[in-house]
Amino acid sequence: MSLPTSPSEEPRDRLGRPVRDLRISVTDRCNFRCRYCMPREVFGHEFEFLPRAQLLTFEEIHRLAALFHRLGVRKLRITGGEPLLRKDVDRLIGMLAGLPEVELALTTNASSLEEFAPRLVAAGLGRVTVSLDSLDEAVFRKMNDVEFPVSRVLAGIEAAIAAGLTPVKINAMVRRGINEHTVLDLVRHFKGSGCILRFIEFMDVGTTNGWRLDDVVPSRVLVERIGRELPIEPIEPNYTGEVARRWRFTDGDGEIGFISSVTQPFCGTCSRARLSAEGLLYTCLFAADGTDLRTPLRSGASDEELLGLVGGVWRGRSDRYSEVRSAETEALSRIEMSYIGG
Ligand code: GTP
Ligand code: 5AD
Ligand code: SF4
Ligand code: SF4
Repeated sequence: MSLPTSPSEEPRDRLGRPVRDLRISVTDRCNFRCRYCMPREVFGHEFEFLPRAQLLTFEEIHRLAALFHRLGVRKLRITGGEPLLRKDVDRLIGMLAGLPEVELALTTNASSLEEFAPRLVAAGLGRVTVSLDSLDEAVFRKMNDVEFPVSRVLAGIEAAIAAGLTPVKINAMVRRGINEHTVLDLVRHFKGSGCILRFIEFMDVGTTNGWRLDDVVPSRVLVERIGRELPIEPIEPNYTGEVARRWRFTDGDGEIGFISSVTQPFCGTCSRARLSAEGLLYTCLFAADGTDLRTPLRSGASDEELLGLVGGVWRGRSDRYSEVRSAETEALSRIEMSYIGG
């Protein structure tokens, strides 16, 4: 359906940033209750999640992805909640894999990755990013708050490697006093495995996780701590706008990364758009409101009309929340991370 892209169709936002990366949330549900994301006190076990009819269908998602592709998007990331909870998500992956020159990745907690990995590869997925905050059983179970064992996540990672969803990236969110003391174990475990481990600073996304600046362990502290045990040196980014700062082990045994949105924000090159499961378009992880694309989709808007709408939203974009974070911005309302994915 998509016509050849012409560069003139590619919008720039008010800060000159193109749109290159579309993160697609396919469900707002998750089987974990990570305290920094979906705390049980707030979300319970069956929070008021979106009813099925409100979710975009795979055909609707594919149509929007093809339009974003015309606007310049070359990377699609399937997220959630937990995206593998969306029924038949491999069918969507198969549809998206048909878009030319697109890198296709998925972020997951890996709880069912062992079962899904072969199907995801067969559908055309390129790689996966797995969230794993600690290898310490007690720490991990406390963090996911559903008694989920580390071993099953590791089994999911192994299955992803065996299926060829590589390089597998591992995201570990670090919160002071919670899993900070288990960082080195993670580094040692994944060193030399071919997986790329990245540490994420605890962010003030959403409004339910009780974020405080004191809970953030700055990446520079971790770099120093890790470097003392296992020598590392910084390396160049793979591409402009890469979120993680890369460091390699000086013995050649691979690399690790640091995502430091609190202490070293990277809004200047942010080319990420986010689509919620119900079809709202967000231009920042910290946005309060999104633009409804589902209503025009369902009321017969043409491709050109939708392109005009999305292009207009992008051209009007001036978000740079992490660079302007302050007591004032912290008090503003924000969407939850579980609703929009990472
Ligand atoms: P690849 O380079 O393709 O692997 O993806 P990535 O580096 O963008 O990584 P990923 O999608 O796994 O994002 C990792 C984490 O970084 C997310 O879960 C978020 O916590 C954080 N993150 C990603 N994008 C943004 C962003 O635009 N703003 C902020 N503040 N944080 C982000
Ligand atoms: N701060 C940093 N990272 C977070 N994630 C979820 N909530 C937060 C937060 N408040 C991470 C998860 C997962 C990814 C999707 O986003 O740990 O790795
Ligand atoms: Fe945890 Fe990710 Fe689920 Fe949030 S979406 S509760 S971070 S596994
Ligand atoms: Fe992009 Fe918003 Fe994150 Fe800045 S805070 S990098 S603008 S998503």
